[in-house]
Amino acid sequence: MKNKTDHKNPPASQLQEGSEAARPLLHQHAREIQPYGKIAKLPIALDQQVCAADVELLNQILADTMTLRDMYKKHHWQVAGHTFYQLHLLFDKHFDEQSELVDAIAERIQLLGGISIAMAPDVAETTFIPRPPRGREEAPVQISRLLEAHEIILKEARTVAKQAADAGDDGTNDLLVSQVIRTNELQVWFLAEHLVDVPVVRADNAKAAASGS
Ligand SMILES: [Fe+2]
Repeated sequence: MKNKTDHKNPPASQLQEGSEAARPLLHQHAREIQPYGKIAKLPIALDQQVCAADVELLNQILADTMTLRDMYKKHHWQVAGHTFYQLHLLFDKHFDEQSELVDAIAERIQLLGGISIAMAPDVAETTFIPRPPRGREEAPVQISRLLEAHEIILKEARTVAKQAADAGDDGTNDLLVSQVIRTNELQVWFLAEHLVDVPVVRADNAKAAASGS
């Protein structure tokens, strides 16, 4: 049976005018409502200068946390070897936890009246974490890169947490201490234990004998 409607001949009633109000207004452009680097102060009983300083400092930690988050996904995909399964899962767990930190830091920047860095090219220009190669690397090299990135973030977070506390910005201090520092420290432990060179099956009797135990 031949269908009355085909793609070249839709029903004429569908093409009649009358639905203009329901049509989306596409391709709109206008000036930004807040340029990057400017503060739009909210009533949170904090000095504008304190907000501005903390926004700047948090954006550095945000760019580095986004880079570490993405490095976890890269390593989740590219990991190889006999520890593939556990590292594949561990890297993705840490990716999820870093993603939560990214959101918490970005939203803290917004509520301080600032603008959080967001897009990959801006992150790449800002981060202090060295860029890894596009290719695959061995698992110990992947883990070493991750540990170095964690330490960069932990150093920054400790410094900024203290500055924020001294300036009276307890919310920023709490975010950095309770979430950023504690999460990064815990992840460092889980990674670093993979670089301890202990026997997998046979205990090292030669070393035990040499030490007299
Ligand atoms: Fe996956």
